[in-house]
Amino acid sequence: MKVAVIGTGYVGLTTAVSLAMKGHDVLGIDLVEAKIVQLQQGKSPIYEPGLEEALGELLKSGTLKFTTQIADAWEAEILFICVGTPESADGTADLRYVFAAVSAVESLHRKAPRDRAVVMKSTVPVGTGDRIAELLREIDGLHVVSNPEFLREGNALKDALQPTRIVIGTDHQDAADAMEKLYQGVSATRVSTTRANAELIKYASNAFLATRISFMNELARLSGELGTDIVTVAHGMGLDSRIGPEFLRAGVGYGGSCFPKDTIALLQLANQHGISLTILDKVREVNTKQPTWFLEQLRKQMDDVAGKRIAVLGLAFKPETDDIREAPSLKVLEALQKDGASIVAYDPIAVDIVRPLFPKVEYTDNPVEAFIGADAALLITEWKECVQLDWEEIKASMAAPLLFDGRNAWPAKQLKDAGFHYTGVGRS
Ligand SMILES: NC(=O)c1ccc[n+]([C@@H]2O[C@H](COP(=O)([O-])OP(=O)(O)OC[C@H]3O[C@@H](n4cnc5c(N)ncnc54)[C@H](O)[C@@H]3O)[C@@H](O)[C@H]2O)c1
Repeated sequence: MKVAVIGTGYVGLTTAVSLAMKGHDVLGIDLVEAKIVQLQQGKSPIYEPGLEEALGELLKSGTLKFTTQIADAWEAEILFICVGTPESADGTADLRYVFAAVSAVESLHRKAPRDRAVVMKSTVPVGTGDRIAELLREIDGLHVVSNPEFLREGNALKDALQPTRIVIGTDHQDAADAMEKLYQGVSATRVSTTRANAELIKYASNAFLATRISFMNELARLSGELGTDIVTVAHGMGLDSRIGPEFLRAGVGYGGSCFPKDTIALLQLANQHGISLTILDKVREVNTKQPTWFLEQLRKQMDDVAGKRIAVLGLAFKPETDDIREAPSLKVLEALQKDGASIVAYDPIAVDIVRPLFPKVEYTDNPVEAFIGADAALLITEWKECVQLDWEEIKASMAAPLLFDGRNAWPAKQLKDAGFHYTGVGRS
């Protein structure tokens, strides 16, 4: 099928590549010319495992093309909207990019309407799809579909190729059939429903995952006091099939481009309808405080952080991505700088994105070097480069053997046995 993808960020680019890999004829469109030029040269503006390799092959075969001109999407039977929906000042989802994209689609088809599915992959508040359908009502043949995206950054291409489920929200049979044809051969459970249900499925999923994380983070604070081990507790909990093992990992807090903004957008949507989502409100509160709580553990053990050399391992909001949006590392760097610490930071991919925000931080491209002369080291993102380390060499190079494991990913027992002073999140 002929497909256009409007917005070539994390979701749009991954969607474009995965659909082209399935044999569709895909055109990626973005307003940012520099991004399109880069993509036309086969360079991915974002880091995602396997993405750049696939991009190169698809460009060569001609099944994937990029443009800044929406007019080039004239033939596309399916037009995906994958633009950003960031947080507004009041916490609601900022829909200006979505409506700009809708208006571009509208002007493309106003003169000569044809049967087309306008598919919303951006995460939008419940009712947005219906508002768009109303706006496009006068143009025959344009059918609005909600098809939310559930990919995980760091695993985006795999998730797009093998999704956990495909949710299709539309009341139009031809549009539903077109979506089925598009995803033919993809073995994932289909949820065919209304646009509004599809939109809420997306927000509810993210809010629930954020809830699990905050629940475990709060429990970890108690676990630390009780002298119990939250990692063992999570393992024991996760074996219950009603609970499952995912998203039970205590740490320094969640970040990223989705959970923070989607939880506040859902809270604001509920407020607009006179409903208080009290649990979700607390989920956000716990998460906001988690990096501060983590740093308190450090401050308790070091009389004064001022002038001390602190190594920060990992900057991206999670491993295998260069995305730093709402990353806990940013809060940690800011607080340590305020305390007057001398910071040395390492990340395998995200350093160049963080550097302009924190120019006074020293950066290294070797994780082991970050520990040299350090009075303490903090693990913020559990990249394998930050976890699989030669601890003997590190012990000899640190000024003091203080380790703070914000992801419970360092080998606690081995480190204690080796003479490190190890502090995890909620570990005995
Ligand atoms: N990043 C994720 O992990 C993820 C997962 C699921 C859903 N989502 C949702 O998908 C949407 C996109 O997220 P993202 O992380 O890919 O955003 P992003 O900021 O990485 O990319 C958005 C892209 O859209 C482009 N753009 C904006 N307006 C445009 C227009 N009118 N025409 C063409 N291009 C335009 C921007 O230049 C940018 O390249 C959001 O609603 C997000 O909540 C994101």
